[in-house]
Amino acid sequence: MSIGWRSPRRVRSLPNAYGGWAVVAGASEGLGSAFAAQLAVRGMDLVLVARRPQLLAELKEQLIAEYGVEVRCVVLDLADPAFAEALADAVAGLDLGIVVYNAAFTPVGPFLEAPDEEISQAVDVNVRGPLLALRALVPGLVNRITAVLMGRLLPRKAAIRLIGRNTRHLT
Ligand SMILES: NC(=O)c1ccc[n+]([C@@H]2O[C@H](COP(=O)([O-])OP(=O)(O)OC[C@H]3O[C@@H](n4cnc5c(N)ncnc54)[C@H](OP(=O)(O)O)[C@@H]3O)[C@@H](O)[C@H]2O)c1
Repeated sequence: MSIGWRSPRRVRSLPNAYGGWAVVAGASEGLGSAFAAQLAVRGMDLVLVARRPQLLAELKEQLIAEYGVEVRCVVLDLADPAFAEALADAVAGLDLGIVVYNAAFTPVGPFLEAPDEEISQAVDVNVRGPLLALRALVPGLVNRITAVLMGRLLPRKAAIRLIGRNTRHLT
């Protein structure tokens, strides 16, 4: 089954610029799966993170079949602070150059009626999650001349201070 992205021959190779591996957190659907496919088109091997293993497994199968990249699935709940250690373990030793934190909890409905659990979940996934992910992943990026962070992974200046002047931080 084709997932319909552009031919790898027509797009730039990212591994030469950034290193071979990218992490996409929140990859099981939506923008995250689109980021994963676009990175695979450009030759990046991928660590895919989300809670639903079936969706991750299907995406992994598609990306391997279409682009021949290496793909690892890591089933994690990014609302649980314990995810950071598991994520660090999952990327240990990889030539990591790109991180996309796309995961988000975005409940729909009147804000004033939002229950406390929804507010907490939003803070856990949307605020604490990217900071913990960054702290877990930065050790794999610090020696890179160039790295790319995408998502809510920190204000631009802080990310640049952490990783180096050639780091790009796209929001
Ligand atoms: N789609 C758009 O057109 C658009 C435009 C502008 C901005 N945005 C923003 O971009 C963000 C992502 O949008 P989207 O459309 O890609 O959302 P989505 O389709 O709902 O996907 C969210 C992703 O995050 C993962 N996720 C959510 N909670 C998680 C958790 N606790 N642990 C691990 N993974 C978790 C989900 O995977 P699991 O459920 O499998 O865990 C899923 O892969 C949102 O903040 C949205 O507001 C979207």
